[in-house]
Amino acid sequence: MGLPMAGNLSRAGLRVTAWNRTRDKALPLEAEGAVVARSPAEAVEGADVVVTMLSDGDAVHDAISAAAPGLRGGQVWAQMSTVGLAAVERLSALARQHGLTFVDAPVQGTRQPAEQGKLIILAAGPASARPALEPVFGALGQRTLWIADEAGAGTRLKMATVSYSISLTAVVAEALALAGGLGLDPGLVRQVVTGGPMDSPYFQAKSEAILEGDFAPSFTVRNAEKDTRLIVEAGRAAGVRLDVVAAAGERFRRAQARGHGEQDMAATYFASFDEG
Ligand SMILES: NC(=O)c1ccc[n+]([C@@H]2O[C@H](COP(=O)([O-])OP(=O)(O)OC[C@H]3O[C@@H](n4cnc5c(N)ncnc54)[C@H](OP(=O)(O)O)[C@@H]3O)[C@@H](O)[C@H]2O)c1
Repeated sequence: MGLPMAGNLSRAGLRVTAWNRTRDKALPLEAEGAVVARSPAEAVEGADVVVTMLSDGDAVHDAISAAAPGLRGGQVWAQMSTVGLAAVERLSALARQHGLTFVDAPVQGTRQPAEQGKLIILAAGPASARPALEPVFGALGQRTLWIADEAGAGTRLKMATVSYSISLTAVVAEALALAGGLGLDPGLVRQVVTGGPMDSPYFQAKSEAILEGDFAPSFTVRNAEKDTRLIVEAGRAAGVRLDVVAAAGERFRRAQARGHGEQDMAATYFASFDEG
């Protein structure tokens, strides 16, 4: 996600310095006019806005801690990874420690919307940060929802929306697996659903991936499994039972144990069978 997002910022005419743990993966950004830094500190030095898009709360915490020598008070930090409720508090405290203006801004949308600059940004943070973020969010997303002035609300909304996309993927996979298991062509499920009230772009994308056996990652099983834990934790804290997403988590763990962790979350399909 970070790579296409940084590319879009650069193409929008913003001056971008990028850092990625595995530097080689960020090098294509040089052709877009971005500088690829050798350390987090070098990446943040002199920036008006710092954007983080990494796996989880620990990775973000480590990267911003390592960036400390390059940080200066007053910089705006848009934290766009999916980190969950506990981590967002920890990161907000880290921002205070360094005098940064923290904006909790996770995104809805997978790799393709990220490439097209069509993410939906779920932003929560002080109004004072908004002018600096306007060109940044404008390059990354089709829409920004400013939900609240205090961090946490963006991540709370993200927990709700990602629970929907993850659960939907799991039920699409189960329906196709069941049809196949009952001796039918799973493509028949697609034929019945397509164009009717149960249809959706998400159903189309995930059923196509499963039927074509194309599990090139848009959103990995590994990251989806991480999100199910964050969602269940958020539900528990709020006193809301989340049976479906908990079951989706079990499926991702089974798929991951069988070596599908780096494939798209549509590979939850394989969790329906004892082998494969
Ligand atoms: N893909 C989606 O559809 C999607 C949609 C919305 C939100 N998200 C969220 O966006 C975030 C990134 O997702 P992604 O799909 O881009 O994941 P990804 O392909 O797994 O990339 C993870 C990134 O985090 C870095 N990273 C992991 N552990 C690290 C550590 N300990 N220290 C420093 N860097 C570390 C990786 O660096 P290396 O390259 O060195 O491994 C890589 O840049 C996640 O929070 C995910 O839940 C994803």
